[in-house]
Amino acid sequence: MRVVALAIAAASALAATPALATPLTLNGRPPAIINHRGASGYLPEETMEAYRLSVAQKADYLEGDVYVTKDGVAVMLHDGTLNATTNVVAYAATHPEIKALVASGGKYNVTDFTYAQLMQLTATFRTANGYGTYRAGYYDAGFHYQIATLEQVADLAYQTYLDTGKMIGIYPEAKQSGLNVADAILAVLNKAKYNGYFNAAHKTVFLQSFDSNQVAYMNGLTDIPVTQLGICPTTAAQAAAIKVFADGVGPSLNQTNAACVALAHDAGLYVHPYTFLYDATVYDTYYAYGVDGVFTNFAPIAYDERTTMFPVPEPASLALLGLGLTGLAAIRRRR
Ligand code: G3P
Ligand code: CA
Repeated sequence: MRVVALAIAAASALAATPALATPLTLNGRPPAIINHRGASGYLPEETMEAYRLSVAQKADYLEGDVYVTKDGVAVMLHDGTLNATTNVVAYAATHPEIKALVASGGKYNVTDFTYAQLMQLTATFRTANGYGTYRAGYYDAGFHYQIATLEQVADLAYQTYLDTGKMIGIYPEAKQSGLNVADAILAVLNKAKYNGYFNAAHKTVFLQSFDSNQVAYMNGLTDIPVTQLGICPTTAAQAAAIKVFADGVGPSLNQTNAACVALAHDAGLYVHPYTFLYDATVYDTYYAYGVDGVFTNFAPIAYDERTTMFPVPEPASLALLGLGLTGLAAIRRRR
């Protein structure tokens, strides 16, 4: 039955016409839109401005990478160094106390900075190696974009839920090596002020790492789903082995195809490939494979393609209606 459905899906994708009424995802719902580093196709990645734009662009999850500062604050940064995404080099030229933090090769390591020192820097677009193609009309060159904290992102997601009822989720990646980063992430998610909003039953959070030790560690600490990045199973045995310590996989686009998605699903693993950009036909192809979510820099394109292919209510709205989240609804009513 699944083979027939996949064949229909593949043919539909090739024809570039909307055809699927029922997604081939693990839970049968349309794929989740996971905004990669916030709205990073529009604004400097992993800043609060980029995450607020994610919410406005109807993303389901706010993705970002986590490091812990010298003084213990979980901050959102993809690189372990600040050179490519902040003005640190220019800033250090006139600030000797920052210049003193330089490491080998002229690099500035995130973990050598206190949070207050990081706040002095301005986050910028990534200019090296042509990583991004950014949409014009959003970036303000005179604005002091600052590095976000994980707690600020969690606050945004929770406050959006309180204000609108939409269950925006977050998707932090333990990017820094060492298990303390996982502990720091969970400490934020478990803060009392969130009233248990970030938990598995509410589908409001995923955790992720490329490091299988990190994935297994997080899986042992929490029932929040944990994603093993960088792989899509090529055999049933491999899928079963991943399922022992992870709940899903996050392969690159090149690693992902209809066969591996089916193998993963058969083992009970969800599939969230990375990274989708601005070519709408790519979304159509992977949606037809049955992927459960997409890490995208361009949420509006992911949203439009999803709406065309699966013209049903958003997953988050379905979750709110279908799961009977009376406790959370009560929280909203009390405000
Ligand atoms: O976390 C999914 C995707 O973001 C992995 O790639 O390098 O952007 O963290 P990266
Ligand atoms: Ca990431």
